[in-house]
Amino acid sequence: EVVSVVLSGGSGSRLWPLSRKSHPKPYIPLPDGETLIQKTLSRVLKARPKDTVLTVTNREYYFLTRDSFNAYGKTHPDDAAPFRYLLEPSGRNTAPAMACAALWAQQTCGADTVLLFMPADHIVPEIDAFAEATRKAVEMAQKGELVTFGVQPTAPETGFGYIQIGTALPPGFRVSRFVEKPDEATAQAYVDSGEYLWNSGIFCMRADALLQAMQTHAPEVLAAAQAAWDEAREFGDAWELGGSFAQAPDISIDYAIMEKATDVAVIPSEFSWNDLGAWGAYAQLLEPDADGNRLLAPESLVEDTHNCIVHSPHRLTALLGVEDLLVADTPDALLIADKSRDQEVRVLVDALKARR
Ligand code: GDD
Ligand code: MG
Repeated sequence: EVVSVVLSGGSGSRLWPLSRKSHPKPYIPLPDGETLIQKTLSRVLKARPKDTVLTVTNREYYFLTRDSFNAYGKTHPDDAAPFRYLLEPSGRNTAPAMACAALWAQQTCGADTVLLFMPADHIVPEIDAFAEATRKAVEMAQKGELVTFGVQPTAPETGFGYIQIGTALPPGFRVSRFVEKPDEATAQAYVDSGEYLWNSGIFCMRADALLQAMQTHAPEVLAAAQAAWDEAREFGDAWELGGSFAQAPDISIDYAIMEKATDVAVIPSEFSWNDLGAWGAYAQLLEPDADGNRLLAPESLVEDTHNCIVHSPHRLTALLGVEDLLVADTPDALLIADKSRDQEVRVLVDALKARR
C-alpha cells in the first residue's frame, strides 16, 4: 500500500508579507487564481489516483485544508481518494512531521506501507513524468531505500539540498553525499562538478525504514513523535497529536536523516519543477515587461525602472528610477528589499516573532 503524504505545515516565511502565520503560503491564491494546496492535491490525485492522501499540517490549518480538498472533490467527483489529516499542535519542521506520519501509517495501514512525501509548495507542470518518477521511487522504497528525487541544477541556489550521485542502483542511483543548503561558493562548486542534483524535497520511503533511520540518527525526534502519537486524539478523518509534540527538536528531515543515512537513493527527475520558496521564484509566475519588471499590481506606474518585482494588488504603486527592487505590499505590511536577498526575508519574520 502507498500513502501520499502532503506536508503543508510550514509558514512560508520567505514569502512574507504575502504569506502569514494565519494565512500561510499553501493557501494563498497564485496569479492564476489557484492555491498551492489545490495544485498539490490535483497533482497527487492525477499521479497517484489510488493512494490514500494523508495531510500533515498545523491544527490551525485543518479547516483551510479540508475546505480546499472538499472544493476540489466537488469539481472532480471521480477522484474519490480517502483524505486523512494528521494535525500538529505546533510547527516543528519536517522531521517530526514525517516521523508522526510513519507512526500513523504503521498503526493504520501496516509497517511496510510506502509513504510518498510531497511538499505543498511546489509547481510541477509535467504530471506524467512526475507519475513515472513516483512509480520508480515506490519500487526502490519497497526495498527499504530512503528515496529522493533529484533535479538538474541550473544555478548555485542556497535554498536547496544537494545530492551527489553515486553508483547505479536501478531504476535510480545510490547517493554518495547529501548536503542541505550549502553556502554559495560550495553550491557553485557542486554545480560546476556536474556530479550533483538539487534535492526536490519529495521523498519516498517505507514507514519502518524511516522509523529505523530516525531511531539511528534522530532518536530525540522519534521519542517525541512516539509520545505525541500515543497521546493522539482521533476524530472523524483527523488525528490531533498530543502536547509531547512540542518536545520534538525543530529540525528538517534533510539535516536529521538525509545528510547522515547511508541507504539513500535518488531518482533523477525528468519533470520540470519549481519550489515556490521565495519571492524570486514567485515572480517567475509573472510575465516580465519590456524592462524586466514582474508586476502583480493592476494599478502600477513604473518609469525608468528595471528588473523589479512588485506585488501590490490593493493600491496604486509607483516606482521611479530604481532597479532590482522587491516591493511587496499587503493591507497591513509593506516589504521593500534588494531583490537578490529574497532568501533572507525569513530573518525579518524571525525578528518580528522575537519582538512579540
Ligand atoms: N506538517 C508540517 N509541519 N509541514 C512542514 C513543516 C512543519 O512543521 N515545516 C515545513 N513543512 C512543509 C512545508 O509546508 C513545505 O511544503 C515542506 O514541508 C518543505 O518545507 P520547506 O520549509 O519549504 O523546506 P525548504 O524548501 O526550505 O527545503 C526543502 O525543500 C527543498 C526543495 O523545495 C529541503 O528538502 C531541501 O533539501 C529541498 O531542496
Ligand atoms: Mg520549500
